[in-house]
Amino acid sequence: MCGIVGGVTNQDITPLLLDGLKRLEYRGYDSSGLVVLSKKNSLNRARSVGKVKNLEKNLKARQNKIKGNIGIAHTRWATHGEPANHNSHPHISNQVVSVVHNGIIENYLELKDSQIKQGYKFTSDTDTEVIAHAIAFSMKSSNTFLKSVQKAINTFDGSYGLGIVSPKYPNIIIATRKGSPLVIGVGKEGNYIASDQMALLSVTKKFIFLEDGDVAELKLKKITIYDKDGNKVERPIIISKIKEGQVDLGDYKHFMQKEIFEQPQSIRDTLESRITKETVVVSAFGGKANDIFKKIKQIQIVACGTSYNAGLVAKYWLEDIAKIPCNVEVASEYRYRHPLILNDTLFVTISQSGETADTLEALKIAKKINNKIYTLCICNSAESSITRESNLTFLTHAGPEIGVASTKAFTTQLVALALLTCSIGVINQTISKQNEKAIVNGLKLLPSLINETLLQESQIKKLAVRFKDKNSALFLGRGTMYAIAMEGALKLKEISYIHAEAYPAGELKHGPIALIDENMPVIAIAPNDELLDKLKSNLQEVKSRGSQMIVFEDKDSQVKSMKAMEVIQITSNLGRITAPIIFTIPLQLLSYHVALIKRTDVDKPRNLAKSVTVE
Ligand code: M6R
Repeated sequence: MCGIVGGVTNQDITPLLLDGLKRLEYRGYDSSGLVVLSKKNSLNRARSVGKVKNLEKNLKARQNKIKGNIGIAHTRWATHGEPANHNSHPHISNQVVSVVHNGIIENYLELKDSQIKQGYKFTSDTDTEVIAHAIAFSMKSSNTFLKSVQKAINTFDGSYGLGIVSPKYPNIIIATRKGSPLVIGVGKEGNYIASDQMALLSVTKKFIFLEDGDVAELKLKKITIYDKDGNKVERPIIISKIKEGQVDLGDYKHFMQKEIFEQPQSIRDTLESRITKETVVVSAFGGKANDIFKKIKQIQIVACGTSYNAGLVAKYWLEDIAKIPCNVEVASEYRYRHPLILNDTLFVTISQSGETADTLEALKIAKKINNKIYTLCICNSAESSITRESNLTFLTHAGPEIGVASTKAFTTQLVALALLTCSIGVINQTISKQNEKAIVNGLKLLPSLINETLLQESQIKKLAVRFKDKNSALFLGRGTMYAIAMEGALKLKEISYIHAEAYPAGELKHGPIALIDENMPVIAIAPNDELLDKLKSNLQEVKSRGSQMIVFEDKDSQVKSMKAMEVIQITSNLGRITAPIIFTIPLQLLSYHVALIKRTDVDKPRNLAKSVTVE
């Protein structure tokens, strides 16, 4: 979503702000901007629509360079107001204060009305501008910058991560958050803020993660933090484990491509010390996991997008293998439908970023509805809002995922969910020692099976050409492969802008088969499992309606290739756990190559943001 970076240093801040913005570009990027306090104490602002490189050009073209030691910057993903210069951040109120904002101020219309009456002029269509005016207004009656902000934020409903500077207080940045992420970077040459630690990795590895409601005052050599009640508090400094090189492209053309090919390693990393030779390590889910897993009677999974699709796969595994009832729901619905949550529920959130607003809110609401539930999050970000809200945490060790289209986060989430299934099954004795061993062995094979599957890339690349002029595509699967079909359809939609739908193959005859003709490519996933014969019949139904089909099969599935039906053999001897993970790979490669042919912006597809931190 929107990205924030800022800092107070003993050096020129502008290059650091630009570097930070580039690192944040994957979060939201329809425009960007920065404000630097000049030596003469004025707010110098530059804003540009489009990518950060446009802002860079804008800055280079200026005769009077923007320079100073303190500044804030922003990449915007439009919520209120079109992507345009006047809506880009930072916003300024009467040259008194400047603000960058991530989140949504829900009562902004109400605040705007009263600020107009107070005489404030609005120059944007954003909700953010009311923040600038509210702080400017409270500065009139408060004797410190900090107090002005504390007073103003009390009037906001909604979510915010804010970076604030004022020429009246030329040595201070104020940072505050509620519901939106914001970290403080503690550096040698100064102190910094960002919505994501990745923005600051070139200057520091030391981070302080603000709690909801915290307000921090940053000076060159001092950071003071106050909690939501205004009490001075200490927050721990955490050393980031993210390595600089992890966020570089290396020899790859796109982050998505790099991340697809990193999957064998990210799965190895996720499995490391979570399995022994023949068993799962239950404590990988946390010290109390053993006791909690003994007590639970059902599981509720809540997530969004790709993470939701991972949850759908897990439902099949948890009920079929661990024999525990499981529901899965998208967070944006769950949070508003007043669900009934039984005691002894394990409430599982799945999130790559750990900052998805809907998932975080669903978790908070579930805890409010029933405070007896146990919570577990499966997350790729150690110090995220969702991990902080959960009793148990399982970190997927996928490494930073930069491409907006999730790839390695998904397959490592599936690995985590497979370990969860096995752990619960072992503790509740629904999985035998022998089955546990078989699952563990299957998981160990994943890196080499994925490498084998990646070798099919050139064949898949050829098939991608078929989608060049297509407007729609249908993905079919049965059982866990229905969830994988959903993930395949989501990938194609996201990065190639082709409308794609997934159907459980058996459901086709109840309506969607009417869509089938020679212009509707159908992609089917055919593992050699107990539903294979049924799937083969479904494929015949589709074939006889003239569709162009692509079938990804197990070597033993023996779907007969025929005219207008391309059968690609993936690998063989896949089990219930490994199959969905392996069949994800060709679908990722297919959508990637279709996107290349369609010349879309693979890593930053239109209208999308990596981490959706607003509703
Ligand atoms: O960070 P999260 O896993 O919570 O994000 C959830 C979705 O926004 C995310 O999976 C989204 O659907 C991806 N762009 C899919 O590729």
